[in-house]
Amino acid sequence: MTHVLAIDQGTTSTRALLFDGDARVVARGQEEFAQHFPQPGWVEHDPADLWSTTAATCREAMERAGVRATDIAAIGITNQRETVVLWDRTTGRPVHNAIVWQDRRTAAFCAELREAGHEDGVRARTGLLLDPYFSSTKLAWLLDNVEGVRARAEAGELAFGTVDCWLIWNLTGGAVHATDATNAARTMLYDIHRGEWDAEMLRLLRIPESLLPEVRDSDGDFGMARADLFGAEIPIRGVAGDQQAATVGQACFKPGMLKSTYGTGCFALLNTGSRAVTSENRLLTTIAYRIGGETTYALEGSIFIAGAVVQWLRDGLRIIRDASETQALAERSDPDQPVYVVPAFAGLGAPWWDPEARGAIYGLTRGSGPAEIARAALESVGYQTFDLLEAMRRDWPDGAEATVLRVDGGMTASDWTLQFLADMLDAPVDRPKILETTALGAAWLAASRAGVWPGREEFAAGWALERRFEPTMAPERRAEKLEGWRDAVRRTLSAD
Ligand code: G3P
Repeated sequence: MTHVLAIDQGTTSTRALLFDGDARVVARGQEEFAQHFPQPGWVEHDPADLWSTTAATCREAMERAGVRATDIAAIGITNQRETVVLWDRTTGRPVHNAIVWQDRRTAAFCAELREAGHEDGVRARTGLLLDPYFSSTKLAWLLDNVEGVRARAEAGELAFGTVDCWLIWNLTGGAVHATDATNAARTMLYDIHRGEWDAEMLRLLRIPESLLPEVRDSDGDFGMARADLFGAEIPIRGVAGDQQAATVGQACFKPGMLKSTYGTGCFALLNTGSRAVTSENRLLTTIAYRIGGETTYALEGSIFIAGAVVQWLRDGLRIIRDASETQALAERSDPDQPVYVVPAFAGLGAPWWDPEARGAIYGLTRGSGPAEIARAALESVGYQTFDLLEAMRRDWPDGAEATVLRVDGGMTASDWTLQFLADMLDAPVDRPKILETTALGAAWLAASRAGVWPGREEFAAGWALERRFEPTMAPERRAEKLEGWRDAVRRTLSAD
């Protein structure tokens, strides 16, 4: 029983990774699933797809490696966060599609709550801001807009969960309705300081308490995956939202350690230890992990569009055929053309939180072409990360000097992007040897709890650097480029 199975249920695909006893990936399964866009700004997933791709990719990974359920010591789950599933406790049938974190349908409701003066209270207790990104207003939308759902919820017939919780329910055949503290922290219904569901938020959003799952440690006991799924029961012993799992996988266990993951979006988490730092700069305060009953907090900056800007170059503008061409195209650009892409395709996240902003390109001349736009698109990722780090440095001055950014995610394959990132941050950027940090984090939570992998210190000592990018840009050039970016953002914000 030396293997560990990590489930990574993401926004566009589901993956299962099988690790051996030395924390090496021995097999993978991966499946994409349908995205549903019923109206502009709305994004849904079919919960049945989330579950069926999970079961299928787990089986695929096991078959590829020739590993049986009896060889697997534990399952770890990591997942797209905030996405809401609501289902019937008896039949296990969802009452509606899952409403995805990117969905903006509750923007007006959030604005109303803000105008009614609720933002400070929400921030103080949940660490979050009144933005449609989080689960609570999406759950309230389901209760208020899907016929019969409120009555069924009040009668105790329904269960709510983020995606981890939905998968645990299905893996255990409905025996366990539980989530972990990191996922609970993204619902905007959880008091992150007291570590309990927040009665005031439930009252404000008219959410019946009976819907809610039990909140357990990230290395908690989440029951057993049913024997009929994989051939024998497998214990579920680790759960964390994907960005928190990446923080663990990057071994950012000490206060001041910082990671940033570049997937569809970009999410930077700064470990602040046992202290929940309240941001003065519109960052989020969140739970990094809760291990053995002890909560570690983080400041988080969330950017909605990072890697997605490269997809847009490919599928929207069609100036590249494959994401891997972006760097070469950017390198051919004229460096003296101050072109800026502000990728506010889904509004702007931290530190602006402007759901109504929309994307823009500035500084085009007759000489601008695909190369300049590709460079500006890649640079937008560096600028946005700079905005997050600036906010973090202001919120947490104790950590400012120590800033080294550990990066992971698809975009970090581009050396050019990471060099630009180091130049903008004026700080080193570290790319680790193992880039599967999200799955690794979930696997470690489960495996350390199951006693088959080493504890925190030894795991952290195993983190290995592949390459460090040091800042090299002249200070005047950097200042000029950042000033151009600030100006571009100012012109993009919806209030202007
Ligand atoms: O908060 C949203 C985040 O968890 C989604 O991550 O990697 O599925 O795009 P990802």
